[in-house]
Amino acid sequence: MRYALISDIHANQPALEAVLASIGRQADVAAIYHLGDLVGYAPWPNETVKLIQELAIPGVAGNYDSTVGTDYKHCGCRYEDPLQEELSHASYSWTRRHISPETKAFLAGLPFRIDLLPNGGHAGGPRVVLVHASPTLNTLYWTEDRDDDFCLKMAQLAGAKRGDTIAFGHTHIPWHREVGGIHFVNTGSVGRPKDGDWRAGYVVLEVGSGGVQVEYVRVEYAITRTVSAILRSDLPDAFAEFLRLGGRMPSDADVSPT
Ligand SMILES: [Fe+2]
Repeated sequence: MRYALISDIHANQPALEAVLASIGRQADVAAIYHLGDLVGYAPWPNETVKLIQELAIPGVAGNYDSTVGTDYKHCGCRYEDPLQEELSHASYSWTRRHISPETKAFLAGLPFRIDLLPNGGHAGGPRVVLVHASPTLNTLYWTEDRDDDFCLKMAQLAGAKRGDTIAFGHTHIPWHREVGGIHFVNTGSVGRPKDGDWRAGYVVLEVGSGGVQVEYVRVEYAITRTVSAILRSDLPDAFAEFLRLGGRMPSDADVSPT
């Protein structure tokens, strides 16, 4: 069974469209799931949610979705410095002011977790657990440098066993590791990568008799559309530059074409 997993779209409609087109060219993808953070930082929250709804793509609640959906005081994002904190608050308040009641209701109704059983629920076999950030909280940053014990603790909390997979996003930096026969897959981000590569990212996860295969795909998209829409909007201009640099300093980034 092959699944396409898309996470952290963050209202970047051109990136989502490019990823969906790329998935359409993949062979034998049985289903697409999103791992949350549909909105925030870019100017198309309603359009992004509408597209997800129209295509009936199931998925889980990211921290941005659940905080916007429940009128929480902030987005549950981590800030490294006062400037980041200010920008984060600007994005959150912009998003809350611009989402429709329908979008808000949809975000509030997203489930925390989805389990996939590729062999069917009537038979034993591997399980794929989909969450936004971790099995306990959708705000926890599960980065690649977490040690094996942390991964195994998360697996235990999720009820995952040898042969299972836990897939998540949230950090916007893709990684895959196997610990104790359990696969931990961070899918990276469709609409706001932070690994120095501006292109939209997603994962094709294959679960079958040969075990678990993880394919990372990066897709060029019409980033100039997103950049100019951000600059035209009253979102902070810094969000446009962030996308062009893939969330890194210029010296450490594969910068997008202008
Ligand atoms: Fe995110």
